Amino acid sequence: MLSLVDPKDRTPLTLSDDQKTLTSQGGTTYEVLEGGIINALYPKELLAEDAREQYLYDQAAASQRYDRGVSWVFETLDHSDEAATRRFMIGLLELKPGMTVLEVGAGTGKDSALIIDQVTPGGTAVLSDLSPNMLRLATEKLQSKSVDIHFLLANGSYLPFADGAFDALFHFGGINTFSERKQAFEEMTRVVKPGGKVVIGDESIAPWLRNRPSYATLRKANPLFRAEVPLEDVPANALNFKLHYIFGNAFYVMEYTVGEKAPEVDIDLPMPGKDFVDNWRARAEKAAQ
Ligand SMILES: C[S@@+](CC[C@H](N)C(=O)[O-])C[C@H]1O[C@@H](n2cnc3c(N)ncnc32)[C@H](O)[C@@H]1O
Repeated sequence: MLSLVDPKDRTPLTLSDDQKTLTSQGGTTYEVLEGGIINALYPKELLAEDAREQYLYDQAAASQRYDRGVSWVFETLDHSDEAATRRFMIGLLELKPGMTVLEVGAGTGKDSALIIDQVTPGGTAVLSDLSPNMLRLATEKLQSKSVDIHFLLANGSYLPFADGAFDALFHFGGINTFSERKQAFEEMTRVVKPGGKVVIGDESIAPWLRNRPSYATLRKANPLFRAEVPLEDVPANALNFKLHYIFGNAFYVMEYTVGEKAPEVDIDLPMPGKDFVDNWRARAEKAAQ
C-alpha cells in the first residue's frame, strides 16, 4: 500500500478495514474510488480555475478528444516529433530501474508508459491528476505494465506525500493554469529527495519568436501560448537549473536537481588584493548611504 499523508496537515492517512476510506489524524476522510483510485483532492471544493480545468479535462476525456487533439497541436508546431520529444523530456529525469517516481497531471498517461519502462524492474510509478476521467483513460492504457503503479486524484498544489518520498518528479502540460502555481512548485520540489530530479514543462513561446507572424497567430488563437516561463516560482533550493524549448520552441521544459538547501552569497568574505576589510556587506552599506 502506498504511504500517504493528508494533503493539508500532512499527518499520515490510515486505510479503513473495508478499504473504502483513508482518514487523517485530524479526522479528515478521503475516499477510495472504483478501481482503487484514491481521491486525495484538496481542497475538497477546488479553487475556481482548478475546478474549471477539472471540468474541461473530464469533458475532453469523456469524448475521447484529448489524445488526438493534443497530438494535432504538436504537429502544428514545426511538425514536431511528439514521441521523440516526450522521450527527451523523460530522459531528463535520469531514471533508473527500482526508482520511485511521481507524475503530476499524468492525464491519459502519454508520458507514463515511458516513465514506467525506465523504472522497470522493481520501481514504483505514482500517477496523479485532477481529472477522474483523464486518469481512468490512463489506467486502461497502462493495465499490462508489470511494475507497481498507483493512480490517484491529487491537486499538484497539495500533494499527499511526505517530504522526499520520490526519487524524481515529472509534470507536463498543466502548470500554467494551476490556481496556486507557486505553491505547486514548492510541493513538487518538497516531495522529491535531495539529489532527485524535477522536470516541469508547459506552453510559452520563446521570446525571440513571439512576433513572427505564425507565432503571433498562435498567441491570438490560444491564450495559453501567451504564458511566460514561471521562473519566479522555482523554489530556492533548485540546483543545476536548465531551461529547454521544445515543440517548435512554443513550449518550455525546465529541469533541476533538488538541493539540501538554497545557495547563499557569502557577503562577508574579504576581497583578496584589498586591505581585507572590504566585502559585499561593506559595499552594500556604502551604496545605501
Ligand atoms: C494538457 S494535460 C497534460 C496531460 C499529460 N501530462 C500529457 O502530456 O498529455 C494537463 C493535465 O493536468 C491536469 N491538471 C490541471 N490542473 C491540475 C492541478 N492543479 N493538479 C493536478 N493536475 C492538474 C489536467 O487534469 C490534465 O490532465
